Amino acid sequence: MEEDHESHLNPLTPPPNNHKKRSSKCLVYTLLAVVLQSIAFLIFGLVVLRINAPSLRLSNATVNQLNYGPTSLNMTVVAGIRLRNMNFGRFEFRGGHTILLYENATIGAASIYQGRVGGRKNKEMNVTLKVSYMNFSGDIGLLGLVKLRSFAKLRGEVRVVKIINRGTTAVMNCTMDLNLTSQVIQDFFLPSPLVSSPPSPLRIHV
Ligand SMILES: *[C@@H]1O[C@H](CO)[C@@H](O)[C@H](O)[C@H]1NC(C)=O
Ligand SMILES: *[C@@H]1O[C@H](CO)[C@@H](O)[C@H](O)[C@H]1NC(C)=O
Ligand SMILES: *[C@@H]1O[C@H](CO)[C@@H](O)[C@H](O)[C@H]1NC(C)=O
Ligand SMILES: *[C@@H]1O[C@H](CO)[C@@H](O)[C@H](O)[C@H]1NC(C)=O
Ligand SMILES: *[C@@H]1O[C@H](CO)[C@@H](O)[C@H](O)[C@H]1NC(C)=O
Ligand SMILES: *[C@@H]1O[C@H](CO)[C@@H](O)[C@H](O)[C@H]1NC(C)=O
Ligand SMILES: *[C@@H]1O[C@H](CO)[C@@H](O)[C@H](O)[C@H]1NC(C)=O
Repeated sequence: MEEDHESHLNPLTPPPNNHKKRSSKCLVYTLLAVVLQSIAFLIFGLVVLRINAPSLRLSNATVNQLNYGPTSLNMTVVAGIRLRNMNFGRFEFRGGHTILLYENATIGAASIYQGRVGGRKNKEMNVTLKVSYMNFSGDIGLLGLVKLRSFAKLRGEVRVVKIINRGTTAVMNCTMDLNLTSQVIQDFFLPSPLVSSPPSPLRIHV
């Protein structure tokens, strides 16, 4: 401010040094602004645009109408599945399946309908699996416990700031024990690290 005053008072003898100083200061501020803006964009890019595969896990499983013989088993399982989207954008997924496996055999399956879950939100879904299997190798009643595995995959896209779409897949892969005495599914075990596919390359919709 004082420099301005001086130059106004002596317009005929403008100090050349001041001009240089001012323009170099201006340059420094411009550069600083550019650097700060780049850092802001970088943080935005790293935090907001980073896409992680949403997690999919079993939150509950209830057994109904359980009947079993030595090598056969019928039941209905109502499973609660929790989809957790930690991204800032919403995750829109296509329909998929949940399957229940005994060793390598699929003993039950159910559809998961297409849907969406908001950014940094959870979604609870119920699926009903009708299980009928008549090919156990040993007498399951002797063990009292049947080891099962559940698998599900939901393909979809995470949408950030409206124009950025990124394909990703949520995967569930967990083991559990069916207790034939109590007719309860116990000890959910989620293998870790969580199986999930890396996001596909960035796609920008215009
Ligand atoms: C699971 O479902 C059963 C039966 O509906 C209920 O009693 C139990 O509280 C549920 N558990 C959780 C963790 O939601
Ligand atoms: C399971 O269901 C099948 C077909 O409905 C039936 O043939 C079988 O006897 C049932 N098994 C048991 C243990 O109830
Ligand atoms: C499952 O299948 C794989 C390959 O098809 C086989 O190597 C494995 O022994 C099977 N496991 C059981 C428990 O049947
Ligand atoms: C899932 O089922 C449980 C128990 O039957 C119920 O309390 C819950 O509201 C259901 N959730 C959804 C999303 O349908
Ligand atoms: C039952 O299991 C036996 C061997 O464990 C296999 O050869 C047969 O194909 C199975 N049957 C069915 C219907 O899965
Ligand atoms: C199965 O459930 C019964 C009754 O709740 C319990 O006594 C038993 O310990 C359970 N079995 C296992 C292996 O956890
Ligand atoms: C599920 O997890 C088990 C145990 O960690 C692993 O052996 C198996 O390959 C996984 N299955 C898939 C389809 O990722």
